[in-house]
Amino acid sequence: MELDTKEKLSSKTIVLHWIVGVMMIILLAVGVYMTETENHALYPIHKSFGVLILIFVVPRVFWRMKNGWPEPVSQYSMIEITLSKLIHWVLIIGTVLMPVSGMMMSGYGGHGIAIFGLELVPMNFDPTNPKEVIPINGALAGLGHQMHGLIGNILIGAIVLHFAGALKHHLIDKDGTMRRMLGK
Ligand code: HEM
Ligand code: HEM
Repeated sequence: MELDTKEKLSSKTIVLHWIVGVMMIILLAVGVYMTETENHALYPIHKSFGVLILIFVVPRVFWRMKNGWPEPVSQYSMIEITLSKLIHWVLIIGTVLMPVSGMMMSGYGGHGIAIFGLELVPMNFDPTNPKEVIPINGALAGLGHQMHGLIGNILIGAIVLHFAGALKHHLIDKDGTMRRMLGK
């Protein structure tokens, strides 16, 4: 199987990085927008794509475990190497914890989980008032909600730093870091 090398990243690494990366940025933006504007029409779409991202996230995590992290393109300072490693860990763990915490919040909250109408966890309607749902486990739903908000914010910060790092490599160091992730 094709592994990542210093000169060339495998197509698996590149394809999964960009699919997950683009989906993450859109999901974070939609998540913040829909909660700020209380746009409830977006919730089912956010939840559907939020679950579907796992199709790419899970193989990506296993691929990282098998292949390890890509080796740096050239020699960098200790701080730079440590910071980029840390950010990569935060980013990849965040891609797992966001779908999981979202599913905890909605599933245990009684709101149900569906992928474009395909029901995975049904809504838990209140028998005395069928317009309302009741939580299946309020504590776990609350924990999921808190994690979703907190990790979401951490990820936004991490992605800004990650993007700044990528630009620095490309524009200041003028090394192959960005080109390698673009498959060149
Ligand atoms: C803003 C657009 C983005 C750009 C320009 C970008 C660029 C890059 C580049 C150039 C690398 C290679 C670093 C190296 O060779 O060591 C990389 C790696 C990585 N990026 Fe991004 N990235 C972006 C968005 C994201 C997002 C949103 C995530 C969140 C999941 C992410 C997660 C990662 C991870 C985990 C790695 C480590 C290698 C891997 O697991 O594939 N990136 N990125
Ligand atoms: C990678 C996947 C996901 C990302 C990046 C993401 C991101 C976000 C963000 C940033 C927010 C705004 C949080 C806030 O400001 O309080 C949000 C809200 C929300 N997300 Fe997600 N989400 C993802 C997956 C999911 C999933 C799988 C579900 C449920 C099945 C879900 C359900 C929700 C709900 C219900 C809210 C609104 C919470 C509220 O009204 O306070 N998300 N999401």
